[in-house]
Amino acid sequence: MAALMRPAILLSLIISLILPCLAQNCLNDTFSNNRLYTLCSSLGRLNATLHWTYHPSNGTADIAYSAPQESSGFVAWAINPSSSGMIGANAILAFYDSTAAVTAITYEFSNYTPSVRDSNLSFRVYSREAEYSDGKYTIYATVALPGNRTTLNTVWQAGQVSGGVPVGHALSGDNIKSMGSTDFLTGESSGS
Ligand SMILES: *[C@@H]1O[C@H](CO)[C@@H](O)[C@H](O)[C@H]1NC(C)=O
Ligand SMILES: *[C@@H]1O[C@H](CO)[C@@H](O)[C@H](O)[C@H]1NC(C)=O
Ligand SMILES: *[C@@H]1O[C@H](CO)[C@@H](O)[C@H](O)[C@H]1NC(C)=O
Ligand SMILES: *[C@@H]1O[C@H](CO)[C@@H](O)[C@H](O)[C@H]1NC(C)=O
Ligand SMILES: *[C@@H]1O[C@H](CO)[C@@H](O)[C@H](O)[C@H]1NC(C)=O
Repeated sequence: MAALMRPAILLSLIISLILPCLAQNCLNDTFSNNRLYTLCSSLGRLNATLHWTYHPSNGTADIAYSAPQESSGFVAWAINPSSSGMIGANAILAFYDSTAAVTAITYEFSNYTPSVRDSNLSFRVYSREAEYSDGKYTIYATVALPGNRTTLNTVWQAGQVSGGVPVGHALSGDNIKSMGSTDFLTGESSGS
């Protein structure tokens, strides 16, 4: 009996690992410098996708967050270690700064009227960069998953830039639903 079940369990494990990618349209995505990631998830809101490689040995994840946006706007992807939604979100934001260079900055949101500026997050960010092409921003980063957890609340956003800094976003539609839990081990992403 046990011997008969084992292949089935193995198969369903394999399916559960692969299905999140097959079921979505992120599998064929490619990235600059031949960056490759082991898992991906279509986030379901703002047409965003997240690709990543999780390293259990040190609890870090290499991520690539990609979303369409006008070049005059910003995109952001965040982990919220303590809550969900914007307050507590530890974000990486990509946009064209005042020198007309694509930049990736980090900022932790503690209120709804923030002055966004590059500052430290509550967890370590080993690297971050951004690019803009084909009507999309892509953020590349390596982060320490807070508390070495592998299931985390995430939130992502797209909005307006003024004077070279992100200043706000729409308060309706996808922009208030773009959050969910990301399982960095399986690639499953649940959300609204
Ligand atoms: C991915 O690429 C393969 C091979 O080119 C193609 O058959 C398939 O339709 C593509 N899938 C998506 C979701 O674009
Ligand atoms: C997402 O993609 C759909 C279909 O291509 C498009 O109609 C919609 O405007 C896009 N939304 C955003 C926020 O880019
Ligand atoms: C982080 O978690 C992984 C997976 O649960 C574990 O293998 C690893 O030892 C942990 N690393 C640290 C630094 O705690
Ligand atoms: C984490 O571990 C992976 C695989 O062992 C390694 O490639 C990567 O450089 C490490 N990252 C950091 C930030 O130490
Ligand atoms: C940000 O973190 C770095 C490295 O952990 C530290 O050297 C630096 O002082 C911190 N900056 C602020 C503003 O806290």
